[in-house]
Amino acid sequence: MPDTITITDDRTGKTVTVPITDGVFSSAAIRELDPNLYFYDPAYLSTASCRSEITYLDGDNGVLRYRGYPIEQLAEKSTYLEVAYLLRHGDLPTPAQFETWRNEITHHTFIHENMRKRFVDGFHYDAHPMGMFVSSVAALGTFYDDAKNIKDPQSRHNSFIRLIAKTPTLAAMCYRFSVGLPFNYPDNDLSYPANFLNMMWKVGDYEVDPVLERAMDILFILHADHEQNCGTTAMRVVGSSEADPYSSAAAAASALYGPLHGGANEAVVRMLTDIGSIDNVAEFVESVKRGEGKLMGFGHRVYKNYDPRAAIIKKSAYDVFEVTGKNPLLDIALKLEETALKDPYFVDRRLYPNVDFYSGLIYQAMNFPVEMFTVLFAIPRISGWLAHWEELLLDKEQKISRPRQWYTGPGERDYVDLSAR
Ligand code: ACO
Repeated sequence: MPDTITITDDRTGKTVTVPITDGVFSSAAIRELDPNLYFYDPAYLSTASCRSEITYLDGDNGVLRYRGYPIEQLAEKSTYLEVAYLLRHGDLPTPAQFETWRNEITHHTFIHENMRKRFVDGFHYDAHPMGMFVSSVAALGTFYDDAKNIKDPQSRHNSFIRLIAKTPTLAAMCYRFSVGLPFNYPDNDLSYPANFLNMMWKVGDYEVDPVLERAMDILFILHADHEQNCGTTAMRVVGSSEADPYSSAAAAASALYGPLHGGANEAVVRMLTDIGSIDNVAEFVESVKRGEGKLMGFGHRVYKNYDPRAAIIKKSAYDVFEVTGKNPLLDIALKLEETALKDPYFVDRRLYPNVDFYSGLIYQAMNFPVEMFTVLFAIPRISGWLAHWEELLLDKEQKISRPRQWYTGPGERDYVDLSAR
């Protein structure tokens, strides 16, 4: 069977045959038939917007790999900083490469004092930490002269190091401001996740629990990249205009903020709290089926089988609960999962738990307020966004993003003076 597709324009009888590679064919085929012909593809359901070598995802079989490495192996054996290197460079680092990378990131964790004193301190006392985070990431770029030198490899490298190093600092600062606690400076003797936990929680004698440190690192690994999701697409679209990476990352973080994307884990905890008891699960599921709301943390545009990240997180949740005590919402979540996975509504639509279904329970058990959940997602995702941003900049096939539209508004009509309307 030939790996080609033949398209005929019935208006003209013109035919074009083009190769299919890895299930993809170039839209240039359509342009050959008629340069004014476009696909109508709302929400890019059938459009591959780029070639990418970073993350492989097979939604039917629940497979996720970063640069070829299965997510299960990375979550078990690797660290977030190593994964961040992998995402950017394409291969795992040698010990020497890793030491340089770790050292650079560790020594860029501090932020300019004015970021805190003049910028973060200016927010309203009850500002949402994610809103603060989005603006702080954009503002960070204004502190660096070379932020806009995106064609210079050294400047790009500096942006990688600064953004990966400083996002935990910004995140912790936003949290401490929101609860009125003094800011904790980074401690460069700690690991990446331990330093973050220390900046978040240190009041008096505080020692990071190694189980929680590892759980945080695993959550960072699982959230580091997920190919062309809404946030990463925002990063690429804004980056394609050659905006600096800080502004592009702020746009990506804004996309992540929404409840259908990174905001879902916050919505899951609110949903479980509203359900209140396992006795109410059956009725809640019925209400979802009646169209009265969604089962948050279920369903995915690409995964039509169990989200592999959800399986890892579910296991990690039990390790965390050993230290923190069980989250009382866990039983409701387990019952909800069991009920939905047996129900034809969810089975027929291939709706399974996604990464957000259990992550919120871990975050809550670790004491993070729900408003911080999306920020926790954004911290590691910065490495994925940056890897995609650089891949885009170095991709000779890419140009400024500029989709077309199907105009369905009125035809030409004459202006009528205000007094005559
Ligand atoms: N609860 C109930 N029904 C659902 C759900 C859900 N969580 N998700 C999808 N459906 C239903 C839809 O109503 C639709 O039903 P229909 O065919 O009768 O109209 C069908 O399943 C297909 O759903 P779509 O909306 O077409 O799926 P899409 O790919 O556009 O949406 C999304 C994916 C946004 C993730 C959706 O499943 C959803 O809203 N889930 C809840 C929010 C969530 O958990 N988001 C986190 C995603 S993971 C992440 O971003 C990190």
